[in-house]
Amino acid sequence: MTAKKKIVKGAHTWLYPLPALLIGTVIEGKPNFMTAAWGSIVNAEPPMLCVAIRHSRHTRNGIETGQAFSVNVASVSQVREVDYCGIESGAKTDKVAQCGFTLFYGASEKAPMIQECPLNLECTVTQVVELPTHSLVIADILDSHVSEDCLTEGILDVSKIDPIVYITSPARKYAQVGKVVADAFSAGKSL
Ligand SMILES: Cc1cc2nc3c(=O)[nH]c(=O)nc-3n(C[C@H](O)[C@H](O)[C@H](O)COP(=O)(O)O)c2cc1C
Repeated sequence: MTAKKKIVKGAHTWLYPLPALLIGTVIEGKPNFMTAAWGSIVNAEPPMLCVAIRHSRHTRNGIETGQAFSVNVASVSQVREVDYCGIESGAKTDKVAQCGFTLFYGASEKAPMIQECPLNLECTVTQVVELPTHSLVIADILDSHVSEDCLTEGILDVSKIDPIVYITSPARKYAQVGKVVADAFSAGKSL
């Protein structure tokens, strides 16, 4: 690999790729889903994740009152629903009805999950870090629900999940996971 000349572009939220997640909450008794790309796994034992939710989001209220939420991983075939949940607010529309989602609940009963999404993580809030524009919500993953047809010999198969990848600004596009280029924790051994 050759060293290339760099152009300084200033401070931006550029990180590629990002996931396109659907965050499920219950707000005033009504289930709602919001698209979030700023999310990541942050701890192994216990399994924990975080999502960054702008203070003004309707979803932020649901997280505050319920102290629980779900993270739903959608398939490429659900890209319209994912985008819709990212451009409309549950404060004004019933996104569940509009998207035709079938819901189910786990033990927490406060984290609605989408049956049509291949992977659902049920979470309870452990900590919220208030940042200037966003709340960094850190949560325990209580349980994972996987569609049976996304397993190969009982093991999660990402090619069957077919998750949506978000290519952030300036492009602002959705993409599909591409081809495998190497085995992780292995390819580097040759160096
Ligand atoms: C691809 C995409 C990714 C997004 N990621 C985030 C995010 O990580 N955090 C956030 O606060 N808003 C994010 N948004 C914006 C919210 O999804 C959007 O404001 C939504 O309407 C909020 O829904 P609510 O008002 O029902 O909570 C994203 C939108 C899109 C389309």
